[in-house]
Amino acid sequence: MSKHNIHKMYQESVQCVEAEIDFVQATYKAIRGNDARFLREDFSGTGQTAGEWISRHVENRAWAVDLDDEVLNWGVNNVQIKLDAPEKLSYITADVRDSGINNMDIVLAMNFSYFLFMDRLTMVDYFISVKKSLEETGIFFLDAFGGYEAAKELTEERECDGFTYIWEQASFNPINSQMQCYIHFKTDDGVSYNKAFSYYWRLWTLPELQEMLKEAGFSHVDIFWEGTDEKSGEGDGNFSPSKIGTADAGWVCYIVALP
Ligand SMILES: C[S@@+](CC[C@H](N)C(=O)[O-])C[C@H]1O[C@@H](n2cnc3c(N)ncnc32)[C@H](O)[C@@H]1O
Repeated sequence: MSKHNIHKMYQESVQCVEAEIDFVQATYKAIRGNDARFLREDFSGTGQTAGEWISRHVENRAWAVDLDDEVLNWGVNNVQIKLDAPEKLSYITADVRDSGINNMDIVLAMNFSYFLFMDRLTMVDYFISVKKSLEETGIFFLDAFGGYEAAKELTEERECDGFTYIWEQASFNPINSQMQCYIHFKTDDGVSYNKAFSYYWRLWTLPELQEMLKEAGFSHVDIFWEGTDEKSGEGDGNFSPSKIGTADAGWVCYIVALP
């Protein structure tokens, strides 16, 4: 594997699967009183989050679902292979609305991937399929982003170890809320990976998402908002159920839906 593979740079710059699984594991236990074991990661890409789930407990099982064979194969060769119990992580090439992976304690839709569903009907259809694939005691976890800079054309750069991560909101159409985003990488030794990842999706709002989850039959939907670090004024990494959020330039939160 080359030092600067785009999947590796994506893992290092975008994902923090440890924090994500810490949140999901603790929140499930706080709500249900026992430990979850079966987890499905929708839009899994390389299945990094599912792999982290496996590493947490010998009884944990995970399924990583994505349409794209190329990205799943990369996961098999680079994520699954590193697990002590690789057979406990299954990669499934399928549409998330029809993966056939049911009886789950947890279904994850992270990194905003479900924003790819552009209209209400398709989104509600997906949410209905998730509800059907959960145990009665299961929980559906999603993340969402927004804020007044989310609906804006902008480019942001962040230095990472050996490369620069560049997030570009290339276009935003206020009439339908659809936007074109790209991730570019530039390595410290001068190689550019222009449009390494491209997302054409809809910037959904939290009220819309809560309404659609209810419409799909989820009985209870909570927004988990991030607390603020008093010294820095930045997010403190702790998410708790909230009815009132802050009107920040950019925020990320979790949505927790119970069947
Ligand atoms: C934003 S990426 C997120 C990848 C992953 N969550 C991660 O962080 O590595 C979106 C992924 O969703 C997949 N995808 C898009 N539509 C899908 C669908 N209907 N069913 C399954 N996977 C889908 C794409 O192939 C892509 O890998």
